Amino acid sequence: MSPTDSAAPAPAVLQVRGLTKSFGANTVLRGIDLDVPRGKVVALIGPSGSGKTTILRSLNGLETPDGGSVTVGAQLAGAGPEEPRKGHGVNLTLDFSAPVSRRELASLRDRSAMVFQHYNLFPHMTVLQNVIEGPVQVQKRPRPQAVDEADRLLERVGLLEKRDAYPFELSGGQQQRVGIVRALALKPQLLLFDEPTSALDPELVDDVLAVIKELADEGWTMVIVTHELAFARQTADEVVFMDGGIVVERGPASQVLRQPREERTRQFVRRLLHEL
Ligand SMILES: Nc1ncnc2c1ncn2[C@@H]1O[C@H](COP(=O)(O)OP(=O)(O)O)[C@@H](O)[C@H]1O
Ligand SMILES: [Mg+2]
Repeated sequence: MSPTDSAAPAPAVLQVRGLTKSFGANTVLRGIDLDVPRGKVVALIGPSGSGKTTILRSLNGLETPDGGSVTVGAQLAGAGPEEPRKGHGVNLTLDFSAPVSRRELASLRDRSAMVFQHYNLFPHMTVLQNVIEGPVQVQKRPRPQAVDEADRLLERVGLLEKRDAYPFELSGGQQQRVGIVRALALKPQLLLFDEPTSALDPELVDDVLAVIKELADEGWTMVIVTHELAFARQTADEVVFMDGGIVVERGPASQVLRQPREERTRQFVRRLLHEL
């Protein structure tokens, strides 16, 4: 099969196998498998406490799982909106069944970027400083180049005029759009969103979802934890429902959200729809 054969599956950007994690006696992840092909969007849904944030943090090198593995695929030049970055041309696999070094965790973190529920902007830095901090301090990219890119990204989400403002001067929706720009500025292979709109006032949600939808249409590879089922149905290629540290059900968004096979999924979806 030639690499350009349209029947060939897109190369996986993310492959998770058997991920386990306990906090003391509390077993939070009980063997999670996850595949995200290049340019696809997976929505992760499930009740509070089911381990969704722990998965994202594990993918971002912020949490060290007890077992299982995470592979982030080689970045193929020109295959997505992301420009290839130095060192990203080969697969990276972390096997958590053996001790993993800080350096390995850092290289995992370098491949993905996270957008947090509570934005997590640095309060003492301006918008621009927040955006260029990672590229300049961590990735050691030239400052002028990082500033140019930050300006371009801020313009894109309608926030260029706020580049010198501080986070407290912005609405929640604006802060979250800065959070998204900060993630994009890292040029990751994978974007991770942890309930990006759940802290926002209802009237601010749509602007942020529109930005995320645009990124999906552009071909970014993403994992999104969300309770916005309508958004998940429109945006996600696959929906994964988890509960109690396991994946209960997964499939195309329309199937999992409209015709769940499992009773637990049905109850969860019904409850969320009733709350709307
Ligand atoms: N750093 C931590 N220390 C101790 N327990 C934690 C920590 N992070 C998460 N937990 C626990 O792990 C479980 C899953 O949490 P989380 O991944 O945040 O779930 P979700 O995002 O689905 O709500 C919860 O019981 C939570 O209390
Ligand atoms: Mg969470």
